[in-house]
Amino acid sequence: MLRPITPQDAAAVAALVRAAFAEQSVATDPPASALRLTPADVCAHLAAGGGGMVAEEAGAPVASIMWSEMDGGLYVARLSVAPASRRRGLARALLAAAEETARAAGLPRLHLGTRLALLDNRRLFSSAGFVEVRRHAHPGHAEPTWVAMEKRLTAVAG
Ligand SMILES: CC(C)(COP(=O)(O)OP(=O)(O)OC[C@H]1O[C@@H](n2cnc3c(N)ncnc32)[C@H](O)[C@@H]1OP(=O)(O)O)[C@@H](O)C(=O)NCCC(=O)NCCS
Repeated sequence: MLRPITPQDAAAVAALVRAAFAEQSVATDPPASALRLTPADVCAHLAAGGGGMVAEEAGAPVASIMWSEMDGGLYVARLSVAPASRRRGLARALLAAAEETARAAGLPRLHLGTRLALLDNRRLFSSAGFVEVRRHAHPGHAEPTWVAMEKRLTAVAG
């Protein structure tokens, strides 16, 4: 049910990401840039060597993740599950696919950024093995607004 995102998915994935981020658990300040994701952005991401996965149900994408190699690891972004498909483990499955991709590429870590206000997201990432690395503030904000998290990947003994 999980398969790599292709340029043919650009419009559907961009719409899915915008719909998912429009239904976060709390409204964030500033609003997520994912709310403005366009099909052209998805194509540009793929053309630049980025990747990702989409989960389909009945031929329609219901969840997706995007990633790119950055700062010595695989950076995951735009993790999105359609509101009607949440709490069924799709996000965990997509994170596991990202981890598999990082391991296959010999990368030692996965990393991401999430808003401090999104406690449910932080709990999900923590329970998937991510730890908080550093807190950051968006421009114009005196207090931190988002946190960088990472998951160190140790070699699997074979
Ligand atoms: C964050 C998001 C991707 C999570 O997607 P999801 O598919 O609901 O996540 P999962 O089902 O894999 O896991 C979420 C929770 O549901 C639980 N769960 C999973 N399957 C379940 C089931 N069958 N029954 C009950 N709970 C379940 C998980 O244990 C997890 O619980 P936790 O919050 O206590 O850790 C989704 O809510 C979303 O798209 N949010 C808007 C966009 C966003 O914020 N993206 C992340 C930006 S950093």
